[in-house]
Amino acid sequence: MKISSEVELREKIKVEIAVSAEAGAAIVADEIVSLVLKKEARNEKAVLGLPTGSTPVALYRELIRRHREALVSFRNVVTFNLDEYFPITNDHRESYRRFMGEQFFNHIDVPESQIHIPDGNLLREEVFSHCQEYEELIRLAGGIDLQILGIGRTGHIGFNEPGSSKSSGTRLVTLDRLTRLDAARDFLGEKNVPRHAITMGVGTVLSAKQVILIAWGNNKADIVARAVEGPVTESVSASFLQTHSNARFIVDTPAASNLTRINLPWLVGPVAWSEKRTRRAVCWLSSEVNKPVLKLLDEDYNENGMAELLIEAGPAYPLNIRIFNELQHSITGWPGGKPDADDTNRPERAHPFPKRVVVLSPEPMDDVVSMGGTLSRLVDQGHLVEVVYMTSGDLGVPDAEVGKFTNNLNETACCLGREWNPQVEYCQQIMELLNRKGLFDYDSNEVRQLKGLLRRAEVREACWGCGIDPEHVHFLDLPFYQKGHYRQFHLSDDDLKPLLNVLRHYQPHQIYITGNRENPISVQALCFELFSRAYRGISDEAWVRDCHVWLYSGREWTFSPFEVDMAVPMSPAQLAQKMEAIDQHQTQRSQTIHNAERDRSTACLYDKLGLAEYEAIEVFQRWRSELIKTKAPLAVIES
Ligand code: F6R
Repeated sequence: MKISSEVELREKIKVEIAVSAEAGAAIVADEIVSLVLKKEARNEKAVLGLPTGSTPVALYRELIRRHREALVSFRNVVTFNLDEYFPITNDHRESYRRFMGEQFFNHIDVPESQIHIPDGNLLREEVFSHCQEYEELIRLAGGIDLQILGIGRTGHIGFNEPGSSKSSGTRLVTLDRLTRLDAARDFLGEKNVPRHAITMGVGTVLSAKQVILIAWGNNKADIVARAVEGPVTESVSASFLQTHSNARFIVDTPAASNLTRINLPWLVGPVAWSEKRTRRAVCWLSSEVNKPVLKLLDEDYNENGMAELLIEAGPAYPLNIRIFNELQHSITGWPGGKPDADDTNRPERAHPFPKRVVVLSPEPMDDVVSMGGTLSRLVDQGHLVEVVYMTSGDLGVPDAEVGKFTNNLNETACCLGREWNPQVEYCQQIMELLNRKGLFDYDSNEVRQLKGLLRRAEVREACWGCGIDPEHVHFLDLPFYQKGHYRQFHLSDDDLKPLLNVLRHYQPHQIYITGNRENPISVQALCFELFSRAYRGISDEAWVRDCHVWLYSGREWTFSPFEVDMAVPMSPAQLAQKMEAIDQHQTQRSQTIHNAERDRSTACLYDKLGLAEYEAIEVFQRWRSELIKTKAPLAVIES
């Protein structure tokens, strides 16, 4: 994409937008490989600064692939990792040392002696000198040639939380609450996340010769835009990269979505005014000037960079009315279509009625969090709803929940007498496995199975709360999840079959799914990827042509009104019912779910645009398969 000078003025760091995280990872891998080869030719060592977390996983996989294909050797590479939790043992399953081994170093030929990772297993009084030595080692290695970074939602690079100074060096820091919350899932609860970390400083990062920051997924969109377009400030450490002469960001399209050139492109140059862009612009203008759509004036358009739109589609009033009507038509209390009503302007067709509906939930709870109210409506309105949980969700269950369950079962069995011995034995076996495991080891299959069963029980209760009988609740327990761990999932042909079977069996008129905008290694994104491959493979089957696919929002992001094709309002009572259903997911209490507020604030947005004032709203986007990137199906898909 050619960058206009207006974009350059706003984007104070060079940003490349890749079509996907894989494509972005390939660009970074190219940079790394060419640096390594160049240095090798000169008989020098390449010094890399490396991050951990979800973001670099795709990059490490790509580098491992190239290494296996003998395209690159890492014998001449020296690495410095950005950070490590403190305190943490080296073999803790969330330690960055272990992460780097599992995700990268164990699969390449970098010599152990050339790997450097801050040591989180020191005494507190040893940390200061360790940090000084770390800086010294970087200096002795000749400085970092290429520093790769991720970005946290606080804007941190490494663990330089808001408040870190531009000249800071490697040191012990206290983690921000948001950072700890983001790590809570991996540590099975916020309380288990270490409070501190050892991190290279902002100054250390800035002294690298070249810096590339990578970011994938919608969750990073806000902070990427602030770091690139906002002021250089201690409150967003990544903004200091604006002062580096050779720094750039490589992001995927969801992570780029809040950059002005993507979000408000009319502010940085002429644009083609498609329907969707016009709707986006009018909604934005309404919030910018704080007026409902129907009250926007010609002056509002002119004074806010939308004079061209006025020429093309104005004057203001008819344009306002058109957009208002579009928004109005997206709101419906009949998500499955209203039988026997004129459906010309409704998001979903009236017939057939009742509809067969399949709701795909990547992990237990995705469904009820983002569309619990809609689920109830579909059932109440007589549709045939099947809810399909793609993965068991056992990885998110804290051990304490297993302890509670086995104690309970054990005690019940003891009260009931001898014939309950098998239950007592089972409890003992599980407790032994847990005791042997050590606090942060991976669970044995037996414990995972029990955790999965605990989630099944919660799911059934939650579904029941939305009016869905247990016989309409299905569990696929997809193998990629059963065999994997967070950040270590790999899709295979075996994952496709159960999904295809369900879809072919029910031949739904509506499918609900989420995950299209998440970080590509998240369970949600993988499940969506799988769905889109399955769907593409069966797109010729007659029933598929009559099936509408609706995307629901993620747990941490939601659609803006301009991109919503269907908005389903909830009354206060319906919202309360939904919250009660969410509460059934008791093992997930440590997760941050701010949903009542989110649904309420979505309703507020509609209210501010001048539409009816509802208590809460759930939103959906229609997915059309031609929009998806083409990829070879995992397997040959036979009917
Ligand atoms: C980790 C690090 C952090 C992460 C950031 C994003 O070494 O330096 O700055 O890059 O927290 O984490 P993910 O990639 O998990 O979203």
